[in-house]
Amino acid sequence: MTLILGLESSCDETAAALVQGDRTILSHRLAGQEAAHRPYGGVVPEIAARAHVEMLMPLVQAALADAGCALGDVDAVAATAGPGLIGGVMVGLVTGKALALAAGKPLIAVNHLEGHALSPRLSDPDLEFPYLLLLVSGGHCQLLFVEGVDRYRRLATTIDDAAGEAFDKTAKLLGLGFPGGLAVEIAARRGDAAKVPLPRPLLGSPDPHFSFAGLKSAVLRARDAGVHDADDIAASFQQAVVDCLVDRTRRALVHAEGATALVVAGGVAANGAVRGALQAVAAAADLRFVAPPLWLCTDNAAMIGWAGAERFAAGLFDPLDIAARPRWPL
Ligand code: KG4
Ligand code: ZN
Repeated sequence: MTLILGLESSCDETAAALVQGDRTILSHRLAGQEAAHRPYGGVVPEIAARAHVEMLMPLVQAALADAGCALGDVDAVAATAGPGLIGGVMVGLVTGKALALAAGKPLIAVNHLEGHALSPRLSDPDLEFPYLLLLVSGGHCQLLFVEGVDRYRRLATTIDDAAGEAFDKTAKLLGLGFPGGLAVEIAARRGDAAKVPLPRPLLGSPDPHFSFAGLKSAVLRARDAGVHDADDIAASFQQAVVDCLVDRTRRALVHAEGATALVVAGGVAANGAVRGALQAVAAAADLRFVAPPLWLCTDNAAMIGWAGAERFAAGLFDPLDIAARPRWPL
C-alpha cells in the first residue's frame, strides 16, 4: 500500500501526517500557533515561519512514531509548495525536499488549495469526480468544478476578501478574539440574525463571483453605531455570508452539469450554519452533499498527504529544485 508523508506549513498550523493510498490515516500531528499570534490579532508571517522551523521536524518524528514506521518506509514526501505565507511555505517545502532526498523517495509539491479540494475524497470513499466544490478558507473563496486530480475549472472567485478573512475581521471588530471564525459562530448562536440589517454583496448578480469587503465595512458601521448587541451583529453577519455563499453556489450549479455531488471544503466549511445551508442547496438540486469532518476542513497535513497519494497514483512528481509559490491559482 502506498504510504505518503504529508507536510503542511502555509499559514499558522504546522502539521505532519502519514496517509495511505487506501485512505487510512496512520497518524496526523498538528501544532497551532494561536497563542503566538494572539497579541497581534492576526497571523504575523515572521513569527509563523520561525514557529514552523521549530515545530515541523519534531512533528514529523512524532507522526512517524505514532504510525510505527520509519522515514524509509514512505513511498513519497508530499509538502505544501504554495499558496500561502512564503516563509512558512519555504520551511515546509525545504524540509520535504530534504526528507525525500534522505529517504531516496520522490517529492510531490502540493498546491494547498488542491489539498482542500481533494480532502472530501479522503473522508468519503464514494465521492467520485466530477463534483462542484465550494472552497471557503481564510485566503480563498472559490467555486470549482473538480474534474479530476490536477483538473480544476474555476467558476467563481472573490473579487476582494475571502469568506474566512471576513469572519476573522468581524471577530476582531467585535472584540471576539483570534482566531475569529469559530468565535463568530459561537457568538452567532446567542444572537438574532434578523436584528442588524447588513448587505449581501452580489446577491442575485449575473456575475458569478463573491465579494465580502462591503459586508465587512457594514459590520464596522453597525458596531460604531453603538446600538447593537455584538452577538446580534455576529449572527446577522454570519447569515449574510451564508446567504451569499448559497446564492453564488446555486448559480454555479447551472454550470456544473454532470456533477456527482455538491462539496464544501476549507476552514469556513467547519461552520455549522454554512454546512446546513449548503446541505439544503444540494437537497433542492437532488445532489449528494459531502463535507469533510471539522478537523479536516481547517488546515492539516492529512489532506496534503492525501493529495500526495492522489498525485502519486496519477504519476505526478516534482523535481527537487521546484520553487515555493506565495501565489498559485489552481
Ligand atoms: O483552511 P483554513 O484552515 O486556512 C486557510 O487555508 O486559509 O481556513 C482558515 C479560515 C479562517 O479564516 C477561520 O476564521 C475560518 O477558516 N474558520 C471558520 C470556522 N473555523 C475556521 N469560519 C467560520 N466558522 C468556523 N467555525
Ligand atoms: Zn487552508
